Amino acid sequence: MIDFTDQVVVVTGAGRGLGRVYALEFARRGASVVVNDVGGSMGGTGVDASVAAAVVDEITAAGGTAVASHDSVDTPEGGAAIVATAVDAFGRLDAVVSNAGIFTAIPFDELTPDDWRRMLRVHLDGAFYLAQPAYRVMKSQGYGRFVFIASSAGLFGQHLEAHYAAAKAGIVGLTNVIALEGAEHGILANTVLPFGLSRMVTETLPDPSVLEQNGFFQAIQPELVAPIVVYLASRDCQLSHHNFSACAGRFARVFVGLGEGWLGERDSAPTADDVAAHLSEITSTTPYSVPGSIYEEVFAVTERLGVGG
Ligand code: NAI
Repeated sequence: MIDFTDQVVVVTGAGRGLGRVYALEFARRGASVVVNDVGGSMGGTGVDASVAAAVVDEITAAGGTAVASHDSVDTPEGGAAIVATAVDAFGRLDAVVSNAGIFTAIPFDELTPDDWRRMLRVHLDGAFYLAQPAYRVMKSQGYGRFVFIASSAGLFGQHLEAHYAAAKAGIVGLTNVIALEGAEHGILANTVLPFGLSRMVTETLPDPSVLEQNGFFQAIQPELVAPIVVYLASRDCQLSHHNFSACAGRFARVFVGLGEGWLGERDSAPTADDVAAHLSEITSTTPYSVPGSIYEEVFAVTERLGVGG
């Protein structure tokens, strides 16, 4: 059984929705949990300290160990305070689930710079503000696990979500680099792209009666995302630099593949007409590779060119 005895886990946005379920599962498996949540609205306004406190009460009532943190992830001070809460209360930090998030639906031509910034500040800046102080603690321990919560909206696209999708896709880029730099320090970083019936779904439905009628909404219970989040945060996990979609009990790798493409004759000067003529090879997704870093792409090209990299 995957066990978190003597381990300390931070879960942001753990007062509600998916984050609450992750926090309960970590605690059930023996972790000391920092339950972080500002307790705001779905759009990111207001604060309510009782939201995180209620989950701490739930954990302690079940015999587990947890402390509340009400700091916002969206400032450097907030991120540092969340990490300090873990270290001050429990003496170390083994895993971070960067899950706090907000959600609004706005057509692209109506999105204001303020809408854009608020979304990026919570999701992307917040992931950085939390991850950097956590990384420093993990580096000093020679051990750590990051699970960043991204979204299929970011990797595949979703109408009305330019700001949200950009922030979530940015989290994948952040994770790629933490995985590369963290490897030599025993720090692993992966993302999860969840689907879960939370207020992010219910509050965006035009007609609440759709909820009972729609089998998909009934199928995406938050409890069906927790298994992969918990696994990736555990000592058993040796994977890094991966993205996983978790939808209604279906767990699947999501990856950025690189097609073989088309390479013109050596020393030729390809033109736009050549691109048009070779479009089927250029756009083909088979064969493909999944480069582990930018260098792997470069080496593959230099090898085909027959030039030293
Ligand atoms: P939720 O709205 O139920 O929970 C999010 C929690 O984050 C709230 O309790 C909120 O108070 C907290 N929060 C917001 N801003 C914060 C801040 N600055 N600092 C600390 N806490 C803050 O939403 P849900 O569905 O549980 O979402 C969790 C994560 O999963 C989010 O990152 C979301 O974008 C992501 N996600 C959810 C999907 C879904 O189907 N529900 C789909 C894809 C991604």
